[in-house]
This record gives sequence, structure tokens and C-alpha cells, in this order.
Amino acid sequence: MPKIAVLPGDGIGPEVTQETVKVLKVAAERFALSLVFEEGLLGGSAIDATGSPLPKETVRLCKESDAILFGAVGGPKWDALSTPIRPERGLLNLRRELSLYANLRPAKVFAALIDASPLKRAVVEGADILVVRELIGGIYYGDPKGIEKTPEGERAVDTCIYTTHEVKRIAEVAFQAALKRRRKVTSVDKANVMATSELWRGVVREVAEAYPEVTLEHMYSDNCAMQLVRDPKQFDVIVADNLFGDLLSDEAAMIVGSIGLLPSASLGTGTGLYEPVHGSAPDIAGKDLANPLAAILSAAMLLRYSLDHDEAARAVERAVEEVLHQGYRTIDIAQTGTKQISTKRMGDLVAEALAKG
Ligand code: IPM
Ligand code: MG
Repeated sequence: MPKIAVLPGDGIGPEVTQETVKVLKVAAERFALSLVFEEGLLGGSAIDATGSPLPKETVRLCKESDAILFGAVGGPKWDALSTPIRPERGLLNLRRELSLYANLRPAKVFAALIDASPLKRAVVEGADILVVRELIGGIYYGDPKGIEKTPEGERAVDTCIYTTHEVKRIAEVAFQAALKRRRKVTSVDKANVMATSELWRGVVREVAEAYPEVTLEHMYSDNCAMQLVRDPKQFDVIVADNLFGDLLSDEAAMIVGSIGLLPSASLGTGTGLYEPVHGSAPDIAGKDLANPLAAILSAAMLLRYSLDHDEAARAVERAVEEVLHQGYRTIDIAQTGTKQISTKRMGDLVAEALAKG
């Protein structure tokens, strides 16, 4: 019986996760998957309960599970804490603990939602991008890191480090993904300024030699940020380091219409972790307003990558499309002529659509 570790986290995390578990239970029923769910603590709620953003118990649960469903972490309550014990650290340490080096963030425009994007219909229609983000290296993790006092005032340092091995393995993921898509990889870096980017570019170029059927282009990250809004359809797979991938995947979300729609899968050598790209949105937490679709679509990725059940994954994706097609929208994507509904109702409708098949 596949075991799913459920880490609801903070803010809207618990709300969107609850709807997602609801949908997964229906998927389990329909496809005879007999899933088992077990909850764990991560982030601010874990700090409140145990003093640590990533309790050992949670690490153990994740390691013994077949997949992890995660909501979101962070909020104003913990904003005053310093970086080593912030809620976000819990997630960052978990990614590292599980060697989740490859973060897949697909941004595909839904036909029913084209007008929800702040960009013009002609610009976004048909856009279909996969951001492959390196997730456990770069400036997020490099040593030294921290703030120290000096006679002239405080001094802060973050260190960006990449090794050949780290770049190679994420480039492989990007090229493999491109083979199943439109066979184009855009590698993002800042090779005109950063040493890590110079290494990145060289390694990606070498990896590309084994994939003659894939077109490789290199793009500076600032230019990529611009190109994403100018002409998103030029992209197929974007591969980027941890920081650039973080920024560009939020930007890609706006092409789709709302960050409330973007799922992600974090994969490595151990248990895969699935989470919406959005954060904990404390301003709307507990109000039944959040869009659960990013979390639900993350569950589809869970079915596909960790449980190897593409049929169930596609069924969940189709159920989401159907509900959107019927005109139901959470507030973030609501427009005149659509039916605005709550988080719970959205979860119910997707679950119903999935049950009907
Ligand atoms: C993300 C988030 C995280 C990140 C935060 C919450 C640490 O923004 O998953 O994109 O920066 O990786
Ligand atoms: Mg982010």
C-alpha cells in the first residue's frame, strides 16, 4: 500500500492540502490504489509545536513514505526569526535531506483560462513551458552564509557554489524531459557575470552533445525574464539554477493566469515531494478563498512520477480542466461571467468530476 506523507504546513497550506487529499482519495478509489496517508509537521506550525521547522519525526516519515504532499510554509508570525530557524528552512533542509535536486514546474495555459492571464491572449495562447529548476545547490545553500557584526556595521554573505556533477545531473533531467516534449532546451545563466554560470554553461553544452535531436540555446537570466512576457511560446524546457529557477517559475505562473495554478514535483534519488509553487498566502489563510488547483495538479504529478500511474494523473488533470470549463473559479482567477466558488467547493467539484470519470 503506497504511503503518502502529508505536510500541510502554514497559511493556506492546510486548506489546499485538505482538498488535494480529498481528490487523491477519489483517485485511489477509482484506480484501486489503496493509498495510506500520514500527516507530519513542517514550517511554522512545526516551530510552534516542537521548536524546529523540520522535526526529526517528519524526516523519518518522509523517508519511509512513497511520496510527499506538501502545502506551503511561512507567515508573518515567524518573520522576525533569523534564517536558520525560519519556517522556510524546514522546507529547504527537507529538500536537501531527501536529495531532491530536480524541481519540475510545468506552466501550461488552460484553454478555459486564457483571459485570466494579465498578458494578451495572442501572447499566451498555446504557451506550454516546463521550468526545470536545480533545487539543492547554488546560493540557497552555499557556505559561508549569514550576517556578522563588524566595526563598520553588519556584513551579510551568501555564497553561490555549483559543481560539475550538480549541473550535469540537472541538465540530464532537462534534456530527458525535452525528448518527450518539443525538443528544445533553453539554459538560463548569467555567464557574463558569474563564475558558477560560466561552469553551468560549459557543462550544459557538454551534456547536450548526447542529445543531438534537442536544440539547445543559452539565455541570460535577465533577458529570459523579459522574453517570458514578450513571447512565452518560444520556450519549451527552461533549465535554470536554484535562484533563477525560483524567479522565473513565478513569472511563468503569470502566463498561465495565476500562481494558484502551478504545480511542482521535486525529484531526486529518494522520495519525491509534490507542492504547489505558490506560498502560504497569509492574507487569505483560513478564509476558504485559496485556489487548491495548484496543489491538486501537484497530486497529479505525484501519481505520475512517484506512483507511476499516468492514467490516474491524466484523470485528475482532466477533472480540473472540466471544472474550469464549466466556469467555476476561485477568486484569484474569477472574471465576469464565471462562477466564483470557495476552496472547499473547488475541491468537491474536482473530486466529483474525477469520480464520474
Ligand atoms: C519556492 C519557494 C521557496 C523557495 C521558499 C518558500 C523557500 O519560493 O518553492 O519556490 O524559494 O524555494
Ligand atoms: Mg518561489
